[in-house]
Amino acid sequence: MVSTALIVDYSWSGTTAQMAVDLQQVTGADKVDLTVTQGTFPSDMFATADVASQQLSSGDLPELTNVRPDLNHYQTLLVGGPVWNGKVATPVRRFLQQLGDFRGVVAPFYTDSGNPGGYEDDFEQLITRGTFVMGLGMTAGDLPRDQQALRGWWRNFQI
Ligand SMILES: Cc1cc2nc3c(=O)[nH]c(=O)nc-3n(C[C@H](O)[C@H](O)[C@H](O)COP(=O)(O)O)c2cc1C
Repeated sequence: MVSTALIVDYSWSGTTAQMAVDLQQVTGADKVDLTVTQGTFPSDMFATADVASQQLSSGDLPELTNVRPDLNHYQTLLVGGPVWNGKVATPVRRFLQQLGDFRGVVAPFYTDSGNPGGYEDDFEQLITRGTFVMGLGMTAGDLPRDQQALRGWWRNFQI
């Protein structure tokens, strides 16, 4: 049996969004793109890092503006985002904070520029009720040939 999976992703500059599209092709899962109010983050990477660290220290995480998926339909959440300063990007944190009582499997996929730091540990700590499963990280350079890696990772969720 294949578990019912939902792909959820946030992407600041398009790389994780591409990985999410490829993952959807491999899995056939539903997909929801997380969005925030326009202007939440500047177009400059360093200024965005500053905004994100302010959000982290104040705990004031950005509001999500996408339609909220009904998680009751799913057993598995594949949650994608960019690595920001070795951590989970704040819109993804917001989504994980809103998981509430979700008790299924939650696994991260992510993109970075070569230094994911403590991304998976950070992600795991944000899962309160669900079951964490090891994730898959890639860089933009991996994406043209990512389908095989995605297929291998997806096998972990087929029971
Ligand atoms: C605010 C910010 C912080 C980042 N921090 C890291 C980092 O700690 N390690 C790393 O390898 N890349 C870092 N990056 C690069 C992104 O993780 C990388 O470019 C990612 O693929 C972008 O994904 P996206 O296009 O889905 O936003 C950072 C980028 C931004 C904007």
